[in-house]
Amino acid sequence: MVKSSPFVVFESPEAACKQVASEIAQIIRKRASLGRSTVLGLATGSTPIPLYQELIRLHREENLSFANVVTFNLDEYLGLDRDHPESYWTFMHRNLFDHIDLLPENIHLPSGMVPADEISAHCAGYEAAIVRAGGIDMQILGIGRTGHIGFNEPGTPIDSRTQRVHLNEITRQDAAPAFGGIENVPTQAITMGCGTILAARRIALLAWGEKKAEIVREAIEGIITDRVSASFLQTHRDATYFLDKESASALHL
Ligand code: PGA
Repeated sequence: MVKSSPFVVFESPEAACKQVASEIAQIIRKRASLGRSTVLGLATGSTPIPLYQELIRLHREENLSFANVVTFNLDEYLGLDRDHPESYWTFMHRNLFDHIDLLPENIHLPSGMVPADEISAHCAGYEAAIVRAGGIDMQILGIGRTGHIGFNEPGTPIDSRTQRVHLNEITRQDAAPAFGGIENVPTQAITMGCGTILAARRIALLAWGEKKAEIVREAIEGIITDRVSASFLQTHRDATYFLDKESASALHL
C-alpha cells in the first residue's frame, strides 16, 4: 500500500511555528485545566529555534505556563558534558528553558557523559522515565539531510528504542561549523529510537529551506524504508509535516 504523510505548507518558518506553538499551548492549557501534566518531546538544531521563540513569547505575553510540562529531548552527543557550549543541554537552556517557567526537575535529556558500561542501563532508564511520565503527548522533530529523526541514521529499525548510535558523516559535516571543524564533532550520541518517537501521541516534523526539499519529498512520498527514518512517520496516525514553501518545493502531491 502506498501511503503518504500529511503536510501543511506555510509562507515562512515563523508562520509554521506560530501554528505549532498554538497547538502546543492548547494541549498544555487543556491538560492543565484537567489537573494533568503535558509531556513534550523536544528537538535541537536550527529548525525548532523559531518555535522556541514563539513559545517564549506565549509565556511572556500570553501567560502560557510550563509549570505542568515535562520534557524529554530526543538526543545528546556522547562525550560532551552538560556545560559544553555545543551540548544539547546547553542548547535547550539557551534557546528555551532559561526563558520559561519549566521546573528543572521536569527536564530530561540523555547524558553525554555516561560511562560506556552504563549506557544500556541509562537508555533503559530514559525509556522508563518517558513511560512513568505518561508517554509523550506531542513530539517535535527536525529532519536531517540523511532523513534522520533524532539521530536515527539510515539503517535504524522502525522499532528501535533509546540507544547509543554512531553519527553519519553527512550529519557530522552539517554540525562541523558549530564545532569549529569536523574533527571536533562527536562521533557518537545517545538518541531516542524510531519506536520511541512513534509512540508519541502527536508528532510535528518541521523542515525549512531548499536543502531539505529532496529528503522531505522522499520521506513524505517515498516508500516506508529504514533508508529514510522519517518515512516511518507514514505509519503514525497523527503525524504532520510543517513545511515552508522551499522545503515543500519538490513534492508532487
Ligand atoms: P537542523 O537539523 O535543524 O539544524 O537542520 C535537523 C536535524 O538534523 O534533525
